[in-house]
Amino acid sequence: MSDTSTSDTTSRTSPDPLTDRLTHPSYPRSSRYDARWTVENQMGPHALWLLEWLAPALGLDGLRPCARVLDLGCGRAMTSVFLAREFHAQVTAADLWIDPDDNARRIAEAGFADHVLPVRAEAHDLPFAEGSFDAIVSVDAYQYFGTNDLYLPTLTRLLKPGGRIGIVVPALREELAGAEPPEHLKAHWDPGFWAFHTPDWWRRHWTRSGAVEVEAADWLEDGWRDWLLWSEVCAEESPDENMARMARESVELVKADQGQLLGFARIVGRRS
Ligand SMILES: C[S@@+](CC[C@H](N)C(=O)[O-])C[C@H]1O[C@@H](n2cnc3c(N)ncnc32)[C@H](O)[C@@H]1O
Repeated sequence: MSDTSTSDTTSRTSPDPLTDRLTHPSYPRSSRYDARWTVENQMGPHALWLLEWLAPALGLDGLRPCARVLDLGCGRAMTSVFLAREFHAQVTAADLWIDPDDNARRIAEAGFADHVLPVRAEAHDLPFAEGSFDAIVSVDAYQYFGTNDLYLPTLTRLLKPGGRIGIVVPALREELAGAEPPEHLKAHWDPGFWAFHTPDWWRRHWTRSGAVEVEAADWLEDGWRDWLLWSEVCAEESPDENMARMARESVELVKADQGQLLGFARIVGRRS
C-alpha cells in the first residue's frame, strides 16, 4: 500500500496540467492521487479533499491497522480506496445508487480488492450487526438520509462503544428562516438544498439524539473556493456529459453565492 506505487489507477504518475491545477496545499494526501481518476469518478464536490479535512477530527490516523470502517454513501468508492490506502482500514463501501459490481472493478483496478468490500445498501436498512465498525465515514451523502431526528441512533448502533462517526456535508453559514430560497440564489436553487444546515444545527441535531457526544461541528474556511475550482475543472474535463452539466450548474451556484451562504460542515461524534 505504498503512496508512491504506480501499479494502480489512483496514483499520480507524471506531472500534467490537470494534476497541477488540482494540487492543493491544504490537501497534500489527495494531491498524490491521479487527477483524471478523481474527475472521472466524481459525483459532486471533491470527495478526497473533504475526507482529508475530516480525517484529523475523526482520528483516522489513530485507527488500529485493519480497523473496520463503514463508508456510507461512498458513491464510486474513491473515499473507500483513500481510507484503505491512507489509514490501512478494512472498508465496507456502502452505496445505494452505484452498482457494487462497478465499484468492485474500480476498487480492484486501484489495487485494494482485499481491503474494500462494495455493497449495495440503503442507509435506513443496513445489513450489519450492532458494534460492527470502529468508525463510520460519510462524505457528501449524509444530507440525503440523516436529517430525520430519529435516524442517528439507528446508525451509531453499528459502532463499537467509543467508536466515532464523521461526516462532511454541503452546509450553510446561517439557517434559512423563510420558505423561499435566498434572493441571490433563487435562479440556481434545488429543493434538495433545504437539507443543508449550519454546523450549529448539526451539533444540536446530533446532541439531542443522545446517540453521540459531539466532538466537532465546524466550517471549512474558504470551502466555497475549493468547490468552485473543482466544479470548474469538472465542467471542462468530465468525460460524462451529465456530470459535466451538473458541474456547470455548481459553478453557477457557487459563483452566484461567492461564499456568502454556502460551504461545507464537518461533524464528528463519539458513540456514547
Ligand atoms: C453526491 S453522491 C456522493 C458520493 C460520494 N460520497 C462522493 O462524494 O463522491 C451521494 C451518494 O449518496 C448515496 N445515497 C443517497 N441516499 C442514500 C441512501 N438512502 N442510502 C445509501 N446511500 C445513499 C447515493 O447513492 C450517492 O452515491
